[in-house]
Amino acid sequence: MTLEAIRYRDGSLWILNQLLLPHETQFEQIRSVQDGWDAIKSMKVRGAPAIAIVGCLSLAVELRTGPEREGAELVDFVRESVAHLTSARPTAVNMGRAAGELVEFTERESQERSGQELKESVIGWIEAMLERDVSDNKKLGNFGAQHILSGVPRGRVTLLTHCNTGALATAGYGTALGVVRSLHALGRLERVLFTETRPYCQGARLTAYELTAERIPATLIADSCAALAMRDQGVTAVVVGADRVVANGDTANKVGTYQLAIAAKHHGIPFYVAAPSTSCDLSLESGRLIEIEERPDSELTHINGQPLAAPGVEVWNPAFDVTPHQLITGGIITELGVFLPSELQAALTGRLTAL
Ligand code: MRU
Repeated sequence: MTLEAIRYRDGSLWILNQLLLPHETQFEQIRSVQDGWDAIKSMKVRGAPAIAIVGCLSLAVELRTGPEREGAELVDFVRESVAHLTSARPTAVNMGRAAGELVEFTERESQERSGQELKESVIGWIEAMLERDVSDNKKLGNFGAQHILSGVPRGRVTLLTHCNTGALATAGYGTALGVVRSLHALGRLERVLFTETRPYCQGARLTAYELTAERIPATLIADSCAALAMRDQGVTAVVVGADRVVANGDTANKVGTYQLAIAAKHHGIPFYVAAPSTSCDLSLESGRLIEIEERPDSELTHINGQPLAAPGVEVWNPAFDVTPHQLITGGIITELGVFLPSELQAALTGRLTAL
């Protein structure tokens, strides 16, 4: 069974505190929008889809337990709450997209419903995000696996991935790790190599936790070992997740992704981005327009609170980088199919369907 990192039952929300993994498994209750914001900002919960789901569910919880709000007051509360939640981490687009859609939905519903009925319909919209994310991930996992296998008629494949894109980063199953899970379920995965992902170590702490729990054959490598692994370890394809894929296919993802794409190109290895449509942002034309979050110096200079770097050193710590679409040679794997970056806009607007 896949790990459950977001527990939402009978209107109460609990999240697995990812700062404590893999050594402690501790769930924390989220009782309000501010709790949701704090959990996202401090990275107790992280990963683009999980950020949006926990953010919106924190609003659902507060709507249910907070003071009664009617009509325009409820619409304003939803608008202000999602704007606040979106401010916690700017690069991942999922929260911003959900914010826009939820405000639009609430405004529309407020024309037809009032009181309890309006509140329940907004909560229902939010709750549906959980199921939709899991089913999208399963679809994209299957599309990605089939696409990779179409170039490999027999035998098993070896993938290389970065960061954590699994059940901990989503409502369940995962995006790039969803592709890994699908290949494993088909009996066609030799193993997945995954990077430690400095400085926050999502790979060493979180991906290792998920893959060992599910006994998926996997090998941890240092970030600096990736090019060597591509040359010597029989890597069939590189598959990574995304925080924001823009109209031309340029993709923001965990810092280090760009250099993986360059190394994959050098070695003639297909490079895939696995992202649900909720991680796509057609309003931006190019990756140069994506705001890149910078994280505190201490994430680079310290490990688990212990100093690593010489005190006083200058630090530059962007959390993400942008991979230009020309380097995404395998394709962009979505719940609608696998598309070349140049096909993405048409695919997402219904003008192109997958083969
Ligand atoms: O800083 P993080 O841990 O939130 O970054 C996560 C990533 O970059 C993931 O690759 C991305 O959000 C996709 S998760 C399905």
